[in-house]
Amino acid sequence: MSDNYKIIKREYQGIKLKFVVNESTYKPDKFTRLMANSININKGNHVCDVGTGSGALTIVASKLGAKRIVSIEIDEKTEKPFLKNCKMNTVKNVRLVKSDLLTNVKSKFDVIIANLPQIPYFKKEKPLTYGGWDGTKHLCKAIKQASSRLKKGGELYLNGASITNKDKIIKTFSKYEFKAEVIGKSKTYFTKELANKTLPLLFEHFMRLQSEGTAKIYKDKNRLYYYFFVYKGIKGG
Ligand SMILES: C[S@@+](CC[C@H](N)C(=O)[O-])C[C@H]1O[C@@H](n2cnc3c(N)ncnc32)[C@H](O)[C@@H]1O
Repeated sequence: MSDNYKIIKREYQGIKLKFVVNESTYKPDKFTRLMANSININKGNHVCDVGTGSGALTIVASKLGAKRIVSIEIDEKTEKPFLKNCKMNTVKNVRLVKSDLLTNVKSKFDVIIANLPQIPYFKKEKPLTYGGWDGTKHLCKAIKQASSRLKKGGELYLNGASITNKDKIIKTFSKYEFKAEVIGKSKTYFTKELANKTLPLLFEHFMRLQSEGTAKIYKDKNRLYYYFFVYKGIKGG
């Protein structure tokens, strides 16, 4: 297959899917799985998937009964694999929009799904995974933008983690009139070496955030871990 594509198989909510991925696309991983298994879509819903990447969450939303989906992505390199994945999984009710989060989209949705970059770091080394100092840069902006693009009672499914300032996320949800809770979580084990392989001095940054009180890191028989979260915010107001 051209462009070094690899086919991978995944199953979410009992739906069997196939995806092509290559070096330049975010490969549907265990965080994608937690998001995909947490979302609730009603038949006929108008859905938006922010940071769609390979399109995994868009495809799940379509299979669960969404009528129309707007899929947002900032990175043009994901367009080809996204379109291939929609075709391979016979998903047609989708429009791909290039946008920084929801900036270029003005419609109103029943459901917004957002699995966004949230690595807390002290400098913008890899823009597509950078989440700002405490990891919440994109997450808080997405909550603010989603508040004016959801119908009353509409739902925002958003990723988060115990290392990305949970208090700030909860406060932001409440500031924009969402009733929010964590509806899914999974443990992610890591070591100093693993973290620093991702980004130099990332482990030291995690420790700094923990001492500042914005990150929570846990220990299980000397193994370190954090939690990946899925938040569900219901729009009130
Ligand atoms: C964590 S990946 C999630 C991909 C896919 N939704 C999934 O769950 O497997 C985040 C995606 O958001 C995209 N992204 C990063 N910053 C963005 C922004 N400001 N606006 C829109 N998309 C963005 C990245 O290119 C990447 O594809």
